[in-house]
Amino acid sequence: MSELSSVGIVGSGIMGSGLAEVAAKAGYHVTVRSRSRDGATTVVATLHAALDKQVAGGRLEADERDAVVGRVRSTAQLGDLADCDLVIESVVEDLPTKRALFTELEKIVKPSAILATNTSTLPVVELAMATERPDQVCGIHFFNPAPAMRLVEVVRPITASDDTIKTALGFVTTCGKSGIEVVDRAGFVVNALLFPYLNNAVRMLEHGTASMEDIDAAMCGGCNFPMGPFALLDLVGLDTSLAILDALYAEFRDPNYAAVPTLRRKVAAGQLGRKSGAGFYRY
Ligand SMILES: NC(=O)c1ccc[n+]([C@@H]2O[C@H](COP(=O)([O-])OP(=O)(O)OC[C@H]3O[C@@H](n4cnc5c(N)ncnc54)[C@H](O)[C@@H]3O)[C@@H](O)[C@H]2O)c1
Repeated sequence: MSELSSVGIVGSGIMGSGLAEVAAKAGYHVTVRSRSRDGATTVVATLHAALDKQVAGGRLEADERDAVVGRVRSTAQLGDLADCDLVIESVVEDLPTKRALFTELEKIVKPSAILATNTSTLPVVELAMATERPDQVCGIHFFNPAPAMRLVEVVRPITASDDTIKTALGFVTTCGKSGIEVVDRAGFVVNALLFPYLNNAVRMLEHGTASMEDIDAAMCGGCNFPMGPFALLDLVGLDTSLAILDALYAEFRDPNYAAVPTLRRKVAAGQLGRKSGAGFYRY
């Protein structure tokens, strides 16, 4: 198992900023790469605000907050990830974008570095094969919100070495999470089971079985779920949810994975959930 001390994160959206918090709290030196200078500045400001809230709530000491912030730097340059031992890619759920990024990263990072993806569904082997080091590529799939969710799926493409998987599982444990190992199949464990449920909730709304609010209330009150399917879709992001369903359908051709029209129309209308201010609910 390789020793890790510095972690790079590419992407500063919902997941990228959460991953930065998790890794920095675990003691790693973290470099977050955003495409723009503004994005890079925002990610550190968001982290600051999240940690300030934890200090105000008595869940974090002020000196710990300062130490965590001191371990995070942001950049708009991919080249600033050159010294990282592990780079986790967490950009938009789009295979061509991720493949191009892995090819570029491969040329920048040191030969020993491990490249990981936070993809929810895409074939990890395709990202591995976009590099000259397919044995050092795996999936490290965190859940949303990353600082709060315990599980991480470590995804083993057929190309990965045992050392890569062991190192990834060790990283996950150091981050205070429970890791499970899973083979490289669309949706891994959680999303392969979760997304037919979310998709069918939207189908149920289309059929007029109950209102959106009542379907959410039903799943909270009837199953003890912390939030209903529409609140969860808005939290995940409807564009990301649609991309996940499309990838699941492309792999398995199971009708349960065929995204229902309402979801596709909402994405076309830019109603992406919490991140855009409106999805199924308004924020
Ligand atoms: N949202 C979730 O609940 C969740 C949970 C686990 C994993 N994921 C996965 O994490 C990844 C990121 O998802 P997110 O929810 O943070 O998305 P997001 O929409 O919040 O952020 C996407 C990020 O990708 C960047 N980006 C967009 N187009 C790009 C391009 N062409 N090149 C480089 N960067 C680009 C954006 O600037 C942004 O930083 C996806 O692979 C997603 O499947 C998401």
